[in-house]
Amino acid sequence: MDLLNLAELEQAAAERLSTMAHDYYAGAARDGITLRGNRAAWDRLRLYYRVLVDVAQRDLSTTLLGQHMALPILAAPTAFQCLAHPDGELASARGCGARGAGMVLSTLSTVAMEEVAAVARGPLWFQLYVYRDRAVTRALVQRAEAAGFSALVLTVDAAIIGARETDARNRFHLPDGMTAANLVGAGMAEIPAGEGGSGLERYVRELLTPRLTWADLDWLVAQTRLPVLVKGIVRADDAAIAVAHGAAGVIVSNHGGRQLDGAPPTAEALPAVVEAVGDQVAVLVDGGIRRGSHVLRALSLGADAVLVGRPMLWGLAVGGADGVSGMFSMLAAELDEAMALCGCPSVAAVPRDLVHA
Ligand SMILES: Cc1cc2nc3c(=O)[nH]c(=O)nc-3n(C[C@H](O)[C@H](O)[C@H](O)COP(=O)(O)O)c2cc1C
Repeated sequence: MDLLNLAELEQAAAERLSTMAHDYYAGAARDGITLRGNRAAWDRLRLYYRVLVDVAQRDLSTTLLGQHMALPILAAPTAFQCLAHPDGELASARGCGARGAGMVLSTLSTVAMEEVAAVARGPLWFQLYVYRDRAVTRALVQRAEAAGFSALVLTVDAAIIGARETDARNRFHLPDGMTAANLVGAGMAEIPAGEGGSGLERYVRELLTPRLTWADLDWLVAQTRLPVLVKGIVRADDAAIAVAHGAAGVIVSNHGGRQLDGAPPTAEALPAVVEAVGDQVAVLVDGGIRRGSHVLRALSLGADAVLVGRPMLWGLAVGGADGVSGMFSMLAAELDEAMALCGCPSVAAVPRDLVHA
């Protein structure tokens, strides 16, 4: 890809996507205050770099939940990737695999989880939405285990779907032939146009449970032998409760600003969560990570790794699997540069005082 950075990738993707897909990917809740705040909060953190450290050899790899990762950067779960590229999640998995990046597959993928698992080469986790029908949810968990996924990510910030006004205006729906492929057997795979609004909003309202509580985390942990991460936490007390209920990790996230507008930027929420549970479980963060130096800031605040949502979709739209691996390569090169200039030869050597939260 003859592109310099993720901003250029975003622009190139915008030129290729349909209006409905573009607006769905770019969209945020209401006024987009949290969306913009995410990126701005990473930008604001100054890097108090260390000098005179030998950084001739640098190692970007890390270990998360006992799983080796070539990078401390994973692909966040994002729904409906066939809107970006005909191969959808298959291309994403191939692109992540080419860079050794972990991938989290959304419940609402447009390729069935077994097919994605068959082509994945890096760590592959499954993101779970809880359906009103518990048997449907249980079947998803069992299939993820059988297909070889190595962790579950329970998304907890979507009791109802946040109002994305552009999706309502576009009457968001999946084109003919595209479905929520994991739900075919359950008869819940169609995302038809909404009645006067977003079809996804209607789908979530009718089929997913708005009643999720900590008892459901207990239920999930008891259901599965896989580690469970809880995604969508912005408070230290919630992080501690998640750990008390058996979570193996928490993901500090506001859903990329797509759920509650006014939620704090994740860079601001992260330190208290790390303080509360960082020495017990894995802590990841996502939202607005657009530069390798943002990854370094997150590591310095105590995150074990970050996830990127929209950037992976841009890579997918622009170049399929190659676009996804190219996106990770750009971020990796920037992270490598930032680590060198900050005196950090490895992820483990990133000090907590590079940034002042
Ligand atoms: C188009 C789109 C679809 C998403 N779908 C899901 C999903 O199915 N499940 C989920 O847990 N999060 C979903 N997310 C949220 C992402 O996992 C992640 O939290 C967010 O994108 C991170 O912010 P970023 O896009 O600024 O990197 C979605 C985000 C986008 C942009």
